[in-house]
Amino acid sequence: MDIETLKRDFRTVYGEEPQVFRAPGRVNLIGEHTDYNEGFVMPAAIGFSTSAAIALRSDTRINVRSQNFEGALSFDINDELRPKHNWSDYVVGVIDQIKRAGERLRGVDILLQGDVPIGAGLSSSAAIEVAVGFALLDAEHAAIDRVRLALLCQRAENEFVGMRCGIMDQFISCNGQRDHALMLDCRNLQFRLLPISPNASIVICNTMVKHQHASGEYNQRRADCEEGVRILQKPLPGIRSLRDVSAEQLARHRELLPPVIYRRCRHVVTENARVESAADMLQKNDLRAFGELMAKSHLSLRDDYEVSCRELDIMVEIAGEQAGVFGARMTGGGFGGCTINLVAHGHAEAFRTRVAAQYEKATGLKPDVYITSAADGATRMA
Ligand code: GLA
Repeated sequence: MDIETLKRDFRTVYGEEPQVFRAPGRVNLIGEHTDYNEGFVMPAAIGFSTSAAIALRSDTRINVRSQNFEGALSFDINDELRPKHNWSDYVVGVIDQIKRAGERLRGVDILLQGDVPIGAGLSSSAAIEVAVGFALLDAEHAAIDRVRLALLCQRAENEFVGMRCGIMDQFISCNGQRDHALMLDCRNLQFRLLPISPNASIVICNTMVKHQHASGEYNQRRADCEEGVRILQKPLPGIRSLRDVSAEQLARHRELLPPVIYRRCRHVVTENARVESAADMLQKNDLRAFGELMAKSHLSLRDDYEVSCRELDIMVEIAGEQAGVFGARMTGGGFGGCTINLVAHGHAEAFRTRVAAQYEKATGLKPDVYITSAADGATRMA
């Protein structure tokens, strides 16, 4: 939706003139389930986003509506805030964190509108959090520190929503740059922007399987990794997270770990190494080698981390058989959602048609396929 329509709708609902802020969803090129292990990730922001239209009020009331979800929300900033277990938790969680951070908070009217597919693993929730956080800070003329904003939004999701996500989604929604992937060190939040060759299209294939029950499994994977670290700290007292463990050390201490925990750790340790090589390959514009790393990442997520599903595996397999494909893998938390494919520019349209037809034949599900490119992070629109 264009900004003028959103502003007009805002005027109809609230009778005032708003400012509009926008934050994107994301796709991850490589580095999955590594962020909460202080490892490396390489996401890009995408063209799908959430817009937040906002106007300050003269009292302490906060009104929130969304054009994508039912139900309006109205409360006083001094009310105790409790999760409602629906979309509004992403908004209220951010408001809660802004209060806790001691930032100035006044009454506001907010109208949200977004086009990030929901439950598809493209971070529709981070897009809402960042759009709202950016809007509230900017409306108060607070300087926007994008790293701090990302951390604030992550805490909202960890503490208010109860999803123990890492920093990747909020970070890229704040810091993405057009035509670039962002290689992030999740330990110190240092990052490098890596240009994506104009010869490659990012194609996202939505399996249409929603990752509804993924958050329990997600938190379980985190717990598995933490257990791995606890056990490995006996022979390796210097380690703080799986980021500190080499493949060789892990192999040497394999006997100490229950088999499932060993496989979880092996995914994280090998995935971190893959992201580092992938950054080199992107820099050298060796898309073929980059694509091979994507394929290995998928197998590791499927077999060692066990966060793929039948539909994701089918989608990746079909993609791998197409002309012009450099690499394909599941992207995001898993258990449904999307795959990411790096496809030679001239082949992207044919890829879309063929993969959609073959996937539908194999599963009976009609997939959405988006041909996209890396987009900018959060911004004030008007
Ligand atoms: C979800 C989380 C991220 C990250 C990915 C898996 O998207 O929000 O922090 O852990 O899963 O890589």
